[in-house]
Amino acid sequence: MGPAAEVRVLTTPQELFAAAAEEIVRLANDAVTDHGRFTIALSGGSTPKSLYNLLATNARATLPWDRVYFFWSDERHVPPTDPDSNYRMAHEAMLSKVPVPPGNIYRMPSENPDAAAAAAAYEASLRKFFQVKPGEFPRFDLILLGLGPDGHTASLFPGTNGLQEKSRLVIANRVEQLKTDRLSFTYPLINAAREIAFLVSGMDKATVLRSVLQENASGEQYPAKLVQPRDGKSVWFLDRAAASELSQPK
Ligand code: 6PG
Repeated sequence: MGPAAEVRVLTTPQELFAAAAEEIVRLANDAVTDHGRFTIALSGGSTPKSLYNLLATNARATLPWDRVYFFWSDERHVPPTDPDSNYRMAHEAMLSKVPVPPGNIYRMPSENPDAAAAAAAYEASLRKFFQVKPGEFPRFDLILLGLGPDGHTASLFPGTNGLQEKSRLVIANRVEQLKTDRLSFTYPLINAAREIAFLVSGMDKATVLRSVLQENASGEQYPAKLVQPRDGKSVWFLDRAAASELSQPK
């Protein structure tokens, strides 16, 4: 792991989500004070749903919602109304319950049957929003990520072409193991962030987590290993079950 990785083990999933929510509120208020806005990319899957619920309740009064800009670090190739949609999950768990201006929400245009065109369109909207020139990478204040049992993160799965991408920000990544295309941030975009936060909960993630954090396996095998911020930090929020196979630092 890069020098910047911090591992925080919380006893229960509830404490994990509370710690992550606290971190988001702190980063958001610092970012708004420093540069007037907070840009966050949300992760999908099942793990972050409890965090989004918590932000919609406990942080309803403490997050500067009108200055928070929401993006997604990956998306399934389905319309936003689909039960598998990461956008839909975040909308139902949080965005529909908080005073965020609709114009601050930048979802991936995943209803486009042409996944490559959807990825290119989202890349164009990121370049416009962050006003970056060709060859430059937008710098998110925070990117949320999860960890799949196979070591994937965002939609960067083992053995997929997306792992090699060096210049684009967003790709349509063919995931043969799921027989589908996924829309995903690339490593260059992810690793340009100020902070990257992984949320990993549950015993079923313990073995892959040990491989990612404490074994010399390749990034090809465990794509989450290649998340190493160039000039920022990554924080792993774990619950005790997920951390149960990690050996204590000597
Ligand atoms: C997705 C995610 C993906 C997720 C992991 C973990 O769209 O599925 O973004 O990268 O974070 O698959 O998923 P769980 O939280 O459901 O275990």
